[in-house]
Amino acid sequence: MKNFKLVTTLLVIGCLTGPLASTAIAADGPHDKAIKARQAMFQLYSFSLGTLSGMAKGKIDYDADLAAEMAANLNAAANLGQSAFWPAGSDSENSDNAKNRALPAIWESFPEVAEKADALKTAAAALAENAGGGLDSLKASLGPVGKSCKGCHDDFRAERK
Ligand code: HEC
Repeated sequence: MKNFKLVTTLLVIGCLTGPLASTAIAADGPHDKAIKARQAMFQLYSFSLGTLSGMAKGKIDYDADLAAEMAANLNAAANLGQSAFWPAGSDSENSDNAKNRALPAIWESFPEVAEKADALKTAAAALAENAGGGLDSLKASLGPVGKSCKGCHDDFRAERK
């Protein structure tokens, strides 16, 4: 009987703490969706560029149609409207999103950030025009894209936590 009581008590505790515990785990910060959305955009950049770099390095066979598609995807992603992706307070120091690497400097240097984004747009447009036109043409257009990624990361992305 004693044991039965103990088990019942544990079950009751389990029922009470279970939902509370999972709420705590699921509790996203106020900007979590926006942070995830912009990171998804960056993942799309990275997947597209990674596939194209693989072709340029000979790790993936060059395929003109796939190259053109990947470059078109990158170009489209580079031109997404981003107004809602960067709410105030969603920087790496103020949000509790563990993956967040957006430096607060972004919110203090808007003309510079926009210039970095424009550099990517220009490079991605050229890549979209050339990626399907042969391996040499792809290779020649990749460099400026990679540089534009790095140009923004150097100033506005934190090191991995
Ligand atoms: C205008 C600035 C800017 C440009 C241009 C830019 N990035 Fe980033 N990138 C960032 C910032 C800021 C973050 C951190 C975002 C965060 O953690 O919320 C980031 C994060 C990332 C991440 C991590 C995403 C994740 O899931 O956490 C990847 C991958 C990435 N960028 C790839 C790229 C590639 C590839 C390019 C070029 C094709 C590029 N970025 C161009 C600013 C930029």
